[in-house]
Amino acid sequence: MERTLSIVKPDGVEKGVLGEVIKRFESNGLRVIAMKMVCMSKEQAKGFYYVHRERPFYESLTDFMSSGPAVVMVLEGENAISKNRELMGATDYREAAEGTIRKDFATDIERNIVHGSDGPDTAAFEISYFFNELEICG
Ligand code: CMP
Repeated sequence: MERTLSIVKPDGVEKGVLGEVIKRFESNGLRVIAMKMVCMSKEQAKGFYYVHRERPFYESLTDFMSSGPAVVMVLEGENAISKNRELMGATDYREAAEGTIRKDFATDIERNIVHGSDGPDTAAFEISYFFNELEICG
């Protein structure tokens, strides 16, 4: 069993695909064991994406992530990290495989509907960024 952090980004909430995204997780062996809606400040978004602080898109990305409500979730399942990444599709929706969340709903490389942890260390950091142990029902 593995855990990963998923975010339905402000564009996903705005487009009304939250339920569809959760349905894809649940029907592919990923269980939601923690969930909440958050309105990140610019500083909170910058902290979350600190690893990307040198990237040219850092300012724009953190403006976007703090522009409206997002839904953060902890997903649990076998190979949850790679399973979630498979369901999301490539970061750039133009390169995402057919049937993936980003292929189906994203229209922009930055506004790409969902975020998912990319490895075990990242997952541990990202889960603890939003949730304490009491909030995780695993
Ligand atoms: P995410 O999986 O949340 O990880 C980092 C985010 O940065 C990524 O999804 C996109 O939202 C954004 N991103 C990555 N590459 C680019 C890029 N080339 N231009 C703009 N945004 C990007």
